Amino acid sequence: MFDKVADRYDLLNDALSLGMDRLWRRAVASAVGARPGDLVLDLAAGTGASARAFATAGARCIACDFSLGMLTKGTGRPHPAAVRFVAGDALSLPFADRAFDAVTISFGLRNVADTARALAELRRVTRPGGRLVVCEFSHLPLRRLNALYERYLTTVLPAVARRLSGNAEAYDYLAESIRDWPAQRELAERIAAAGWTSVSWRNLSFGIVALHRARRPG
Ligand SMILES: C[S@@+](CC[C@H](N)C(=O)[O-])C[C@H]1O[C@@H](n2cnc3c(N)ncnc32)[C@H](O)[C@@H]1O
Repeated sequence: MFDKVADRYDLLNDALSLGMDRLWRRAVASAVGARPGDLVLDLAAGTGASARAFATAGARCIACDFSLGMLTKGTGRPHPAAVRFVAGDALSLPFADRAFDAVTISFGLRNVADTARALAELRRVTRPGGRLVVCEFSHLPLRRLNALYERYLTTVLPAVARRLSGNAEAYDYLAESIRDWPAQRELAERIAAAGWTSVSWRNLSFGIVALHRARRPG
């Protein structure tokens, strides 16, 4: 599915989020807090839009994804030398134990077939004391506002996506996967259950997106 939407993926992101995706990416970069010399894993990195931010902070970044279509799109455009694109599956990462100072996943965890396993893999490849940042669509705490938002997801979003992308199913899937995704507290519990500690979160854009942070114990 992601191979099929790769060509127009970044354009659609900007259009459907009304440009808010840029603010969310900035918040992710600040939460990751990459320092010069750090090695950061951006998992489910897609075309590498989020990975670039870590390289500008002086860190090296591995942008890993299992869609060759998305990776090809990313490598095909200019990107900092400190970003390396690697094909790999979140459920069986091709990296050594404790290899990274920080690991992050933006709008990817919801798409991975086994959330617990992906969180455990992320933990395995993070050094003790290293950081996790998960950026994912979430739920608005106010019920009425959330109902309005769900209406946008099931009506406006697929209609715009149909016009711009020509791939209606992918964007029907987007709406469904956001609706079925756990709310902020439940995701925090899942992260803790996968062995992460100091789990916290904050809402972005009223809870349309939530940023979860945690540390690998030790
Ligand atoms: C919505 S895109 C997010 C891309 C990017 N992180 C961003 O913020 O624009 C979700 C990505 O998750 C990737 N993905 C889904 N399951 C995966 C898995 N098991 N291993 C690696 N990547 C996966 C897809 O290929 C896709 O590129």
